[in-house]
Amino acid sequence: MMQQLREAAAYIENTTGSFGPEFGIILGTGLGALVKEIEVQHSLSYADIPHFPVSTVESHSGKLIFGLLAGRKVIVMQGRFHFYEGYTMDQVVFPVRVMKLLGVQKLFVSNAAGGLNPQFNKSELMVLTDHINLQPSNPLIGKNLDDLGPRFPDMSDVYDEHMIRQAMVIAEDADFDLREGVYVSVPGPMLETPAEYHYLRVIGADAVGMSTVPEVIAARHMNMPVFAVSVITDMCTPDRLKKVKLADILEAAAIAEPRMTMLIRELIKLQ
Ligand code: HPA
Repeated sequence: MMQQLREAAAYIENTTGSFGPEFGIILGTGLGALVKEIEVQHSLSYADIPHFPVSTVESHSGKLIFGLLAGRKVIVMQGRFHFYEGYTMDQVVFPVRVMKLLGVQKLFVSNAAGGLNPQFNKSELMVLTDHINLQPSNPLIGKNLDDLGPRFPDMSDVYDEHMIRQAMVIAEDADFDLREGVYVSVPGPMLETPAEYHYLRVIGADAVGMSTVPEVIAARHMNMPVFAVSVITDMCTPDRLKKVKLADILEAAAIAEPRMTMLIRELIKLQ
């Protein structure tokens, strides 16, 4: 595994020269527009990078983008890998590990999620303060990659408290409600039954989605500070539960996208 990661990183370094990224960004479903704000210097197709998994979902375009956001050097994953697509957890987190080898210092993650907290509304943003992993696996199972991190990494403070506070100030200055809460990651790809939504709320989650937690676990294993934000694309409380279509999720994500983009750009400026 380490050799595959090093080969991917070496290919990227050969192709992008001495780019030297500072921050990594993973964009979720329907949240690709941040890329329009980036002064792109290099754009690599996942398919061209050795050992990189290749995206299968239509709404994810599958490119690694290198450029400047607010004057800072970033790598953006446009399109991510989900466990439900049939990838192993090692594949899902492969790009995050490569980012670390390329020198990335902090990770920023976005996702689309269902709202479980009745105080939330569709198209609002929620900063993750904690998570619950209900995926059937995680990327640290198996032989530990000692070069990346310890066998039993701490998870008592997964989401960087300082960046959470900075994000709250940015939202307050921009005059929008930024929610805070616990994200639960489920395997999918089916959405939840009413009984499952109820269960997820009872165990302490504010939002539910099918991504993020594997990548965040891999990042924290490597001791990378993480900031993550969910766009609430549909409300899943008993009174507001509706049949969900991908088109509705994309529409709700599109409404929230300018705010999400602004939040990540302003937050990166402050690092
Ligand atoms: N459940 C799981 N994942 C999701 C949802 C949901 O309701 N909405 C958007 N992603």
